[in-house]
Amino acid sequence: MLSPSAFVPTSHSNGCFAGFLNLPSSSATTFQFSKKQGSWIRKAGDTEITAKFELKPPPYPLDALEPIMSQETFEYHWGKHHRAYVDNLNKQIEGTDLDGKSLEETIIMAYNNGDILPAFNNAAQVWNHDFFWESMKPGGGGKPSGELLKLIERDFGSFEKFVDQFKLVASTQFGSGWAWLAYKESRLDVGNAVNPLATEEDKKLVVLKSPNAVNPLVWNHHHPLLTIDVWEHAYYLDYQNRRLDYISVFIDKLVSWDAVSSRLEKAKAVIAEREREEDRKRRGEGKSTTGKEATPTPEILADIDTN
Ligand SMILES: [Fe+2]
Repeated sequence: MLSPSAFVPTSHSNGCFAGFLNLPSSSATTFQFSKKQGSWIRKAGDTEITAKFELKPPPYPLDALEPIMSQETFEYHWGKHHRAYVDNLNKQIEGTDLDGKSLEETIIMAYNNGDILPAFNNAAQVWNHDFFWESMKPGGGGKPSGELLKLIERDFGSFEKFVDQFKLVASTQFGSGWAWLAYKESRLDVGNAVNPLATEEDKKLVVLKSPNAVNPLVWNHHHPLLTIDVWEHAYYLDYQNRRLDYISVFIDKLVSWDAVSSRLEKAKAVIAEREREEDRKRRGEGKSTTGKEATPTPEILADIDTN
């Protein structure tokens, strides 16, 4: 298995690494981040090679979630399915306008307002699986704490009611797909609304499901916090057709609430920065006090592309 320390992220967004480059320590190849292209550039002598997405390993050994999620499942799910998405994506984007984009940009552009381009499914599946592996940890599960628990209790009534809803949504996704916990901004996209700004209370945790490779990055104002893969390849070796058993044990023993809390904090920071930027623009300043526009986030791109 490849060592996580041998990887360098191609981009950061939503607190997640999008794609990775394997960096053999003995190689004379050097890497530089290209702001223009928004990706890492590999330099070998005088030749510049645009970085490709590479398979990122889970943040734990493949046998770390035994016996709940077996090493055999990881060897197929990560080692074959996830790898195939990465390989196919790299073939699909080569020489296209998507070559050199970040993974999140690729997902938004290839979603193409629902009229999806060929690269969408592979790009989204690469991102979804990275996000899924990082949604779990050895010794995970149980109940979250702190602000996350308070929000869950506020928005679902109780932690137990959240679990019931998550199980229902994940078990009723017909065919292949994903279930999500997301932080949803409530915003009125009406220019002349009297009060178009949402308050903190308007922002809510929601449980959602999506078919095939679709993820919340392509929806307006949804910040993904947690996901479970409900494609059969995720659970069939360990649980056969018992999807509900797999979902239950995922909640009870695998969820990394630390990762979910961290994503929530980062989502709030992204939202707060965007609101400050919008407020500055409303005041007529036209640009940020730092003298440059804030870097667009995938959520902002989603707003632009899907409104
Ligand atoms: Fe999967």
